[in-house]
Amino acid sequence: MTDAVLERVLVREADGADAGHLSLVSDATFLETFAGMIAGDALVTHCQKRHAPDYLRQLLEGGARAWLAELDAAPIGYALLTAPELDAAREGDVELKKIYVLSRFHGTGIAARLLDAALAGAKGHTRLLLGVKDDNHRAIGFYTKQGFRQIGTRRFDVGGTLYDDVVLARELDRTES
Ligand SMILES: CC(C)(COP(=O)(O)OP(=O)(O)OC[C@H]1O[C@@H](n2cnc3c(N)ncnc32)[C@H](O)[C@@H]1OP(=O)(O)O)[C@@H](O)C(=O)NCCC(=O)NCCS
Repeated sequence: MTDAVLERVLVREADGADAGHLSLVSDATFLETFAGMIAGDALVTHCQKRHAPDYLRQLLEGGARAWLAELDAAPIGYALLTAPELDAAREGDVELKKIYVLSRFHGTGIAARLLDAALAGAKGHTRLLLGVKDDNHRAIGFYTKQGFRQIGTRRFDVGGTLYDDVVLARELDRTES
């Protein structure tokens, strides 16, 4: 990936009007990441439920926040910040529900730009939590590099099938921006 291409990538906060773009990049990155690793019917069911534009629009209207990475206005990655659904969550925590970038753009710093945007959005919270599939070594490598540490495990439902996740947390400076 050349610097000239990367200079054309914009990271911006998304709103309800972007639900279609978020849905598209959610499906594309989820399939690319997990096809062959998660049962196909579970993958499709998860995408149909959790990446539907209406579902995402309602999340954003309910207080979740999302950021899109776009190359010439085409979505190539996103991050989604929500109220925590993790058992390990304490008052003051917030969850990085998703951070996904198309594989052509891995290792380019775009994921770090999305995480920086989400960290700024998490300002005022105590910890940023997330769950990640326990064999997703690249993602765990990224999170570890970014200051996350394991605080537990959980089982995660993808389209009706349970998978093992590790739960990671990053302490937040309440003044972090
Ligand atoms: C997770 C994700 C956003 C991280 O972005 P990225 O651009 O790939 O991250 P980086 O390249 O900056 O960092 C990944 C690190 O893991 C390392 N890594 C790569 N493969 C690895 C492996 N098999 N085992 C351990 N570490 C690995 C890389 O070397 C890199 O560390 P380095 O910069 O010190 O060399 C991106 O990989 C992605 O979108 N993956 C698919 C979706 C996904 O899994 N999302 C997370 C779901 S919870």
